[in-house]
Amino acid sequence: MPTGGDGLAVPRHVAIIMDGNGRWAKKRLLPRVAGHRAGMEAVRRTIKAASELGVEALTLYAFSSENWRRPETEIADLMGLLRFYLRREVADLDRNDVRLELIGDWRALDPDIVGDLEAARTRLADNRGLTLVLALNYGAQDEILRAIRTIAADARDGTLDPDAIDADAFDARLDTAPLPPLDLVIRTSGEQRLSNFLLWQSAYAELLFVETLWPDFDRAALEQAIATFGRRERRYGGR
Ligand code: IPE
Ligand code: IPE
Ligand code: MG
Repeated sequence: MPTGGDGLAVPRHVAIIMDGNGRWAKKRLLPRVAGHRAGMEAVRRTIKAASELGVEALTLYAFSSENWRRPETEIADLMGLLRFYLRREVADLDRNDVRLELIGDWRALDPDIVGDLEAARTRLADNRGLTLVLALNYGAQDEILRAIRTIAADARDGTLDPDAIDADAFDARLDTAPLPPLDLVIRTSGEQRLSNFLLWQSAYAELLFVETLWPDFDRAALEQAIATFGRRERRYGGR
């Protein structure tokens, strides 16, 4: 594990529940979409900082499987920003040696977005720096159920012995299979819940809830979160 400037351990895999865009906009008497736009700039800053700080994987909760409950106009704004982000940022991500992974049922998004996501992932596939993981149309319960269905099908087809279903067999069927173990989950905006994010993977992750609204999140906020992580004692049930 690399260490930060202060000698503290840097988490290999950080995941962020980027919350508070709406409240950020409301405070400024702006429409919610202005908060989402400002949140996109926070995404840029955070990716750059995470890659410079030596984080291996950064998972960003961008759209949950429950966010479909929002008004159609807000969903359209969010999808519009995602399209814009993918087209604008991919060259910069490439220059910064960033790879792209996707978790969630992202293939159910609009076909043009699916195409852009696949194109971006292919373009960035040979990079060796930070792995950026976008959680899109992601819900942990949905991810777990999809994994259970593949396990059940493998058992039915005789390729998996039910007695051999252990944590590793399950991990291997989750969307996060290729990623390092989750070390740190950060949620912004003061809410203290996981909102259906990485429920299995966070079993022994450190959780950090900060008051900062997502559009205000920056390098200093990430450095502070990593420093807090470095001071935590992880025991995994031992003593
Ligand atoms: C997070 O900000 C962005 C998404 C969930 C897509 P919110 O839109 O949830 O902002 P608040 O929680 O209403 O402030
Ligand atoms: C969680 O935020 C989802 C994302 C950040 C994409 P929400 O704002 O949707 O969560 P709840 O509804 O407050 O739990
Ligand atoms: Mg919210």
